[in-house]
Amino acid sequence: MKRIITYGTFDLLHYGHINLLRRAKAEGDYLIVALSTNDFNSEKGKNCYFSYEERKKLLESIRYVDLVIPEENWDQKIRDIQLYQIDKFVMGNDWEGKFDYLRDYCEVIYLDRTPEISTSKIKKELNIFS
Ligand code: CTP
Repeated sequence: MKRIITYGTFDLLHYGHINLLRRAKAEGDYLIVALSTNDFNSEKGKNCYFSYEERKKLLESIRYVDLVIPEENWDQKIRDIQLYQIDKFVMGNDWEGKFDYLRDYCEVIYLDRTPEISTSKIKKELNIFS
């Protein structure tokens, strides 16, 4: 069984996220999403509309997602890859090149982002946060 992992905040879940998750799952058989916790988001300066528990429930209801685990810091990726016996690390190409160092541990691929949609854009257009 080929195991895939991806990381993100997935706030205000949108079709760009679904496209990413569908293509990530198609890379293997079992998809783990490491979901940024509320504390980690604060550290990154991200203001989430939905809490960790709310975002987790949404992700768990998506057919492509097999397991949601917390992403609590920048440095857990190697540990996660080893712990969950990951074959492929997948991220959107806004992260192109940033995680190439993980190639010592598993395959790393960057998928094209879906154009013209993002959580920031939704927040801006709905004027949820500045
Ligand atoms: N993603 C994507 N296409 C989009 C938006 C996001 O493929 N249009 C991917 C990202 O590349 C990442 C994952 O979805 O791999 C989670 O992204 P996240 O940062 O949570 O979503 P964004 O909409 O990019 O949020 P923000 O605007 O706050 O950066």
